[in-house]
Amino acid sequence: MSFENTKTKKILVVHGPNLNLLGMREPDIYGSETLDDINRNLIQLAGKVGVKLEACQSNAEAELVNRIQLTMSDGTNFIIINPAAFTHTSVALRDALAAVKVPFIEIHLSNVFSRESFRKKSYFSDLAVGVISGLGAKGYVLALEYALTSR
Ligand code: DQA
Repeated sequence: MSFENTKTKKILVVHGPNLNLLGMREPDIYGSETLDDINRNLIQLAGKVGVKLEACQSNAEAELVNRIQLTMSDGTNFIIINPAAFTHTSVALRDALAAVKVPFIEIHLSNVFSRESFRKKSYFSDLAVGVISGLGAKGYVLALEYALTSR
């Protein structure tokens, strides 16, 4: 990637519950890449254009809320988030993102619209800059490309 005029300086990638099991967890649905593989690639891509990228994962809603709240004061100017199962349940995480007002992209490895009907409901999509669903780990890379060119 070559982004001469990178506006975004600090990106936070947030992974929700069970994504620590990527690689082992239902690989037919979520792919064979581990979370470390995904994060390493994103950190490397961002680093090439001098952008700091931090990735975090938690199975606990409160920890994710606390981490998102920190973006009010830590200089984060873009969030890439896969809320995982919290996509379909968490008003608390939605409210945290609404409160901090940091633009974010919602990511899903699988196509949530082609699965069980409860996965079609997201508490995030209407607040998101955009949503990428069904492109596997490539979705994170595409979101990063967007973040690097956004103001
Ligand atoms: C997911 C889809 C969610 O429905 C599910 O609960 C996940 C992962 C995805 O990346 O495809 O844990 O967000």
